[in-house]
Amino acid sequence: MTAEFAQEGFYIRPMTHADLPQVEQIDRLSFSMPWPENAFQIELSHTTLSRLWVVETDREGEKQIVGIIVVWLVMDEAHVGTIAVHPNYRRRGIGRMLLAHALLECLQGGARKAFLEVRSSNHAAQELYRLFGFETTNIRRQYYQDNHEDALLMTLEPLRAETLHALRHVAATHHG
Ligand SMILES: CC(C)(COP(=O)(O)OP(=O)(O)OC[C@H]1O[C@@H](n2cnc3c(N)ncnc32)[C@H](O)[C@@H]1OP(=O)(O)O)[C@@H](O)C(=O)NCCC(=O)NCCS
Repeated sequence: MTAEFAQEGFYIRPMTHADLPQVEQIDRLSFSMPWPENAFQIELSHTTLSRLWVVETDREGEKQIVGIIVVWLVMDEAHVGTIAVHPNYRRRGIGRMLLAHALLECLQGGARKAFLEVRSSNHAAQELYRLFGFETTNIRRQYYQDNHEDALLMTLEPLRAETLHALRHVAATHHG
């Protein structure tokens, strides 16, 4: 799979082992419960189910990873394991293009629906998911160990190529 142009100066490509220090840094900056040590490395080694991508930019003169996503494709279901954008690069459309890209790849790999868990207080992420048509289909009570917060189970069914293409290619014009 080749790197692909998705937005001026930002490229999506599959995650590699060399990316892990930057990937783990974004994870730590983004979550109160980051993934355990080696978790991304383990995911990278299980390439039959796990799909991992990064968004990279060379805007500041040197390459930097600014977004990450992990999706598990099991039969016809895509389960979004994690998605995060570096805090300095949020609200520029990177999360949207990353999710659209990952779901399109899963659709091509046989997925017909997608689901994920999100903290009930995480309105930013929920807004992103609603943009795609995800709906809350269940509540997992006290799902998160750190503060016993509920998780919303959000589901998108069916996945539609036209919608995902449109979301992937909309340029972020209003956030510089
Ligand atoms: C959720 C997250 C990945 C979004 O990434 P992003 O690149 O900032 O999102 P985008 O710029 O692509 O936003 C797309 C749309 O999502 C919604 N959205 C994103 N951030 C939002 C916010 N803070 N408040 C309200 N809506 C928001 C908006 O509809 C936005 O469109 P707009 O900017 O045209 O209004 C990012 O906030 C993040 O990394 N958060 C911490 C990690 C996390 O919570 N991940 C989700 C775990 S379930």
